[in-house]
Amino acid sequence: MTLLHLAGVTRTVALIDAPPLTILSGVDLDVMVGDRVSIVGRSGSGKSTLLNLLGLLDNPTTGTMLFDGRPVQSYSGGQRDRVRGRDVGFIFQQFNLLQGRTALENVMTPLLYAGGRQFWQRARIAGDMLDRVGLGHRRSAMPDKLSGGEQQRVAIARSLVRGPRLILADEPTGALDLETGAAVMDLLDQVATESGAALVTITHDPAIAARATLHLSLDHGVLSEVGTGPSTPAPGTDRLGATAPSAWGARA
Ligand SMILES: Nc1ncnc2c1ncn2[C@@H]1O[C@H](COP(=O)(O)OP(=O)(O)OP(=O)(O)O)[C@@H](O)[C@H]1O
Ligand SMILES: [Mg+2]
Repeated sequence: MTLLHLAGVTRTVALIDAPPLTILSGVDLDVMVGDRVSIVGRSGSGKSTLLNLLGLLDNPTTGTMLFDGRPVQSYSGGQRDRVRGRDVGFIFQQFNLLQGRTALENVMTPLLYAGGRQFWQRARIAGDMLDRVGLGHRRSAMPDKLSGGEQQRVAIARSLVRGPRLILADEPTGALDLETGAAVMDLLDQVATESGAALVTITHDPAIAARATLHLSLDHGVLSEVGTGPSTPAPGTDRLGATAPSAWGARA
């Protein structure tokens, strides 16, 4: 089942003292339920911008983007927030934890917007998720008392606590040592499998990228599949559409 469909998507931002800046151009992409997607690319190539689009935080400037078969531009603000809260787990490049709230309260936050069991049992569900990232014993700690890697794990627990169908991770292991990073990726994989979610990971780490089933690269806002090169992919295997040029030479 197709969760995300992008065709000819661009993202352009207005600048005050310069012409508009096109950050993404001609992005064609299909993400299916259960996919594991990695995105690599140099700093400034547009990776976070793309992830913000996939996570319904921003709209494409032009082009078509369907979430669950529905054009994203057709959502009202409230619908968009509800769908994002229920279906999307976002792990930000900067962890974006709420300061002045404990680790447990941070992980519980998404459940405040859930219904039924998820709402009523939010403290237990959030505590279990903190256990799974190895931070059960730090549930009362404030973010500023946690190391960078611990904050990252709290952010990961928060993103997974509602069982999202789409997990978007922007450099999820950037602040972690190799071993913790591998454990965190195992957890992301596991939770994605449990909830039948797609997992899209931005990474600079080739070992993390290698875990994916679809390997993408961004070069100056142009998305292409790594490993297929400039040649034509076999029929039915091209997930980026026919128009995306190769990005050989971009960081892989
Ligand atoms: N709202 C904005 N206004 C102006 N420029 C922007 C805006 N958002 C992003 N950019 C620019 O677009 C380019 C892509 O940004 P983006 O954050 O997507 O890069 P990235 O690939 O995630 O980089 P990094 O690896 O450093 O995180 C950058 O040059 C950035 O400065
Ligand atoms: Mg970024």
